[in-house]
Amino acid sequence: MKLIIENDAGTAATAAAQLIAEEIGAHDTPVLGLATGRTMEGIYARLAQAHEQGTLDFSCVTSFNLDEYVGLSAEDPRSYHYYMQDHLFRFVNIDLHRTHLPDGAATDLDAECAAYEAQIARSGGIDLQLLGIGDTGHIGFNEPPSSFDTRTRCVELDEATREQNAAMFGGDPNAVPHEALTMGVGTILDARRLLLVATGPAKAGIVAKALEGPITPEVSASAIRLHKNYVVILDEASAAELSPATLARAQRNA
Ligand code: GLP
Repeated sequence: MKLIIENDAGTAATAAAQLIAEEIGAHDTPVLGLATGRTMEGIYARLAQAHEQGTLDFSCVTSFNLDEYVGLSAEDPRSYHYYMQDHLFRFVNIDLHRTHLPDGAATDLDAECAAYEAQIARSGGIDLQLLGIGDTGHIGFNEPPSSFDTRTRCVELDEATREQNAAMFGGDPNAVPHEALTMGVGTILDARRLLLVATGPAKAGIVAKALEGPITPEVSASAIRLHKNYVVILDEASAAELSPATLARAQRNA
């Protein structure tokens, strides 16, 4: 593991955006795995800024997002399709035909999930998968327990997750869809490189569990420790409950 601890959420976002930009520059046809959530907003803002300044070209980038709510169409402002347009795609020169998210409004969800896996495979696999972490320890929407060989599928969302994500639904957890389509833990582990980013004091407990607790389907983020090439970028607040031994291995950019 490469663990980078930045001073605050802003510098953590800058470090993550730099790493993503480097990955884009390292391939003729880069394939990115993208994530959603508040943590990613600062990262996407920096990528958009780099594009505007002429230093980052998305024209050859293919992207696959982790997940989408079931029942929401791409035009729904609460959907992750909309989020990606709103926070990144409309600001950069990515070819929209090369951007992919699972379709939560599909009539046959199982067929949609199988097709998504096939599309990822056809693209040659994901070079860098960006990950956040949910309160339940999920990556994507892999709620506990999610075995490490799971593939893209329909899952039931935890109550804690629906509470965490209620802000986009008028603050009402009951308005958050009960189901989502998500890449599986196995799908995520197939990416050639993983980048997990967490910021803020509310993430400190689950970050420590994921990075230092048992590697278990009960905390799907712990699975990243089985990967041979993964980077974790934290800020001081989200790193606050890590042990001295883990902190000693971190690269600190204060
Ligand atoms: C959602 C996404 C996850 C993401 C999580 C964290 O649940 N499905 O992929 O990691 O949000 O969200 P935030 O960054 O808002 O804390």
